[in-house]
Amino acid sequence: MARRYEKPVIHRLHMGHTNKFGFASPYGAKVRKSIDGVPIEELVSRFGSPLFVFSERRLRQKFREVKNAFTLRYPHVEFSWSYKTNYLDAIVAILHSEGATAEVVSEFEYEKARRMGIPGPKIIYNGPYKPIDSLRVAVSEGARINIDTFEEIADLERVADEVGKRPKVAIRVNMDTGIYPRWSRFGFNYESGQAWDAVKRIALGGKLDLIGLHCHMGTFILKPEAYEIETRKLVELAYRIEDEFGFKIEYIDVGGGFPSRNRLKGIYLPPEVAVPPIEEYAERITTALLNNLRPGDYPLLILESGRAIVDEAGFLITTVHATKRLPDGRRGYVLDAGVNVLFTAFWYHFNVEVDREVSGAAEPCVLYGPLCMNIDVVEDRAHLPPLPRGTRLILSPVGAYNVTQWMQFIRYRPAVVLIGENGEVDLIREAEDISDIVSRERVPERLKPKS
Ligand SMILES: Cc1ncc(COP(=O)(O)O)c(C=O)c1O
Repeated sequence: MARRYEKPVIHRLHMGHTNKFGFASPYGAKVRKSIDGVPIEELVSRFGSPLFVFSERRLRQKFREVKNAFTLRYPHVEFSWSYKTNYLDAIVAILHSEGATAEVVSEFEYEKARRMGIPGPKIIYNGPYKPIDSLRVAVSEGARINIDTFEEIADLERVADEVGKRPKVAIRVNMDTGIYPRWSRFGFNYESGQAWDAVKRIALGGKLDLIGLHCHMGTFILKPEAYEIETRKLVELAYRIEDEFGFKIEYIDVGGGFPSRNRLKGIYLPPEVAVPPIEEYAERITTALLNNLRPGDYPLLILESGRAIVDEAGFLITTVHATKRLPDGRRGYVLDAGVNVLFTAFWYHFNVEVDREVSGAAEPCVLYGPLCMNIDVVEDRAHLPPLPRGTRLILSPVGAYNVTQWMQFIRYRPAVVLIGENGEVDLIREAEDISDIVSRERVPERLKPKS
């Protein structure tokens, strides 16, 4: 094959950098020819590109790793799957089969969990906006409701009267645990006394059973010690409540927020170094429980971990459509997947692997998506050898938040497949087509195109 002439470029020589981790190899790119033994080319020829691929083996392994870290240290633990992180039916079916209950933040997530066979009492209903109709259903079906606002307390009292049932509730608490940013807009503040006011309000109303305390501090939290502070404060609050109002706090829900092995933008070290092992989080939380609980008291510990469980099970295969030299000397690539399907590209530098050996020196390049929008940048500091058109790139980890936050903007959303533990490949979400775009649209008669 004739080789095209390409104008040479001069790169600035970077001397004296002390970062022993930060630079990619100047030679070649990491090659990945298959996922769980299934060739990339086979996946693309059957299901097209771009394509999300989930590994059932990795998902189950990760779930068990996280679960073991806690159940080995504390006798009474529940894992409530954070639906918003990934609510594809097949993915949640795997997690439910591993024993996870459901944590939902909207009526549609609630409905999805019920469709998947999860009964009300195994659902935790969170979130700042819970329409009263959805509270009626949740209360009737015995779901546990983590209250976010004073208005919600009033709504639940109304529902309790209507339905003739005492709702089982917790309050969501936000607090200072030494991490930044502080998610203070959810639930009731601990330090200001607002959480205590909420408890008093519930006790005064006399219509709700306060059975739990909840806190979700944020996401991708790299400081395990913050969980120790969180857990201790929740236990202290629980006993104050029990002693003053006689409610028995049956569960302490510490939320999610554990990081995945992803490369967060702005973090200097690679994930293998920057991300503490899950055992450290488990140790902090369970130590805080065991050190502060009264003898013989083992309330249920609930975890709502999302990202840490599913992120590394997900890959995105995308294809090089075009390449050009940018005025600043970098090489630019146009891919068939962009921020429309990879919302998390705004915060992560993904692993970028290619499906074949590519010769030539690696150079700085930018990976653009297919959108006709300047913000559509998948990676602005990739370091890759010259990739021919048609090269498949495999981006990972992408299993958390992308297949829920993806947008139907400009392009159809692609197919999603699952590779089973025995190498079977199943389509778990079809690629969209025009019917997905127009099926809910209506054109007034007078505007219909004349045939
Ligand atoms: C209430 C609640 N629980 C759990 C999660 C899952 O968080 P993560 O994926 O960081 O574990 C979230 C995510 O924002 C959340 O809002």
